[in-house]
Amino acid sequence: MVYSKREDGRKFDELRKISAKVGIIKRADGSARFQIGDTIAIAAVYGPRELHPKFLQDPEKAVLRCNYDMASFSVTERKKPGPSRRSTEISLVTEKALASVVELDLFPNTAIDVFIQIIQANAGTRCAGICAAAMALAHAGIPMKDMVAAISVGKVGDKIVIDLDKEEEDFEEGATDIPVALTARNKEVTLLQLDGEVSKDELMQAIKLARKGCEEIHNVQIEALKEIYKEDKNGQ
Ligand code: CDP
Repeated sequence: MVYSKREDGRKFDELRKISAKVGIIKRADGSARFQIGDTIAIAAVYGPRELHPKFLQDPEKAVLRCNYDMASFSVTERKKPGPSRRSTEISLVTEKALASVVELDLFPNTAIDVFIQIIQANAGTRCAGICAAAMALAHAGIPMKDMVAAISVGKVGDKIVIDLDKEEEDFEEGATDIPVALTARNKEVTLLQLDGEVSKDELMQAIKLARKGCEEIHNVQIEALKEIYKEDKNGQ
């Protein structure tokens, strides 16, 4: 099936509009909002703090706990509030996408809790959640080896595209969706999922697109983090 033109006029390798802000939840240790197109994720970080019950503690490192949730009002169809199989899976892959960059071994016996809430969803929510969470962790002052950015790439009809929106995800029989998370400096892949079918060449092409997209996102993340220090200097 030929996919000749994107509904919203974007080029096949063009991201939706991105914006990010750090420090949106004052009482959290770290927080951030990340928006890409109509998808909005907010993240709040608490910790490192002593982990209870004690038998869950790891004497060698902190336990990173991520909790992804999608607000009932974030989607147009009815969505039951609370956890689901989907949110449990996304929480787990988010944890894996972030754990390798956080210096967990500096904080034995503690927990670092990351709460991600999707307040508006138009595809790519797990990636937006990871972007927000990485910024919130940095904002909390937790030592990190690198930053993480994430973007969804995929195949819509016959085209490899970046940052699919919901209409594209639902195109014809459904698109191939490939969420990718990458560390900024070392370009290590910390998340790679694939829902659908692609050839090896197409997958390589998609990952190349994801690299470019993550670089762009990374710049936005860094700018948002710098912004908070400017505000602090101005006494805000
Ligand atoms: O959000 P992401 O693409 O990472 O994950 P998904 O499970 O592939 O979901 C794709 C999209 O379907 C979401 O981004 C939402 O826009 C939508 N969705 C929804 O409308 N209602 C749900 N209960 C779950 C997902």
